[in-house]
Amino acid sequence: MATASIVSAVTRRQISLLEGKVALITGGASGIGECIAKLFSKHGAKVAIADIQDEQGHSVVNSIGPSNSTFFHCDVTNEDHIKNAVDKVVSNYGKLDIMFNNAGTFDHPKPRIIDNEKSDFERVMSINVTGVFLGMKHAARVMVPTRRGTIISTASLSSGLGGAATHAYTCSKHAIVGLTRNLAVELGQFGIRVNCLSPYALATPLAKGFLGLDDEALEQAMNYMANLKGTTLKVDDVANAALFLASDEAKYVSGQNLFIDGGFGIVNSAIKLFEYPES
Ligand SMILES: NC(=O)c1ccc[n+]([C@@H]2O[C@H](COP(=O)([O-])OP(=O)(O)OC[C@H]3O[C@@H](n4cnc5c(N)ncnc54)[C@H](O)[C@@H]3O)[C@@H](O)[C@H]2O)c1
Repeated sequence: MATASIVSAVTRRQISLLEGKVALITGGASGIGECIAKLFSKHGAKVAIADIQDEQGHSVVNSIGPSNSTFFHCDVTNEDHIKNAVDKVVSNYGKLDIMFNNAGTFDHPKPRIIDNEKSDFERVMSINVTGVFLGMKHAARVMVPTRRGTIISTASLSSGLGGAATHAYTCSKHAIVGLTRNLAVELGQFGIRVNCLSPYALATPLAKGFLGLDDEALEQAMNYMANLKGTTLKVDDVANAALFLASDEAKYVSGQNLFIDGGFGIVNSAIKLFEYPES
């Protein structure tokens, strides 16, 4: 193959990893989900955004282009909303290739469990776990008959670590890993891949609300604590990992929790074996 055709083949591959695919992204009106929606569309996917923030959702659709994207008002805790969103995607675009369960919330940290309210715990579990369960259920409903598709959910660093977030949030993100593994086993027989991804903290409305910091202060604090120095985690980094999992580049990856944490989750901070002496 001539060099020019190789270059053009590589370029084509790079810009069209999701050509012809159809994706539904919950929580796609803001932060990580918005970035994923835009990147998936850039790679050739038709994108449906399901969120409770209507104005922001429509604005993301306008910026992607209404011919390639749609917005559905959808509360992920409401089974009818999720069912309708999945059914409308299938009737509008003919199929669902990628279900992205990304919508999430948090509760305000209260150090002692005895001060934590049951209602806060249940609210977080309802959005972060029941919402993901419903997304998985209705995606499977339309994917199994076609024996095709991939389901991805946004967990968190707190899916594999204690003490980095509230009890409810940590519990909810651990639960997403359980659901992911169980469903990967169930749906493997149909060729459907199920994975989740787990980012370290990054500046989005959710994280800023959780920590009460602005973009700069949040990134500074996270960079200070990070294992991987000299770089800052951005929404694009999470979207790129999502693109990999959604694409055929990851065609044999299933049942995995992909950490995007610069190694933070595997550090034992009590042991300073590799500290270089001051130069
Ligand atoms: N930002 C971080 O530091 C970080 C780190 C790890 C994991 N996460 C996870 O990433 C995901 C996206 O969060 P983000 O940081 O982009 O925050 P974000 O606030 O920008 O986005 C969350 C989106 O979810 C939507 N949402 C909330 N409740 C919903 C519901 N009931 N139904 C439908 N949509 C709903 C919101 O309207 C919003 O658009 C969440 O699951 C979060 O837990 C975030």
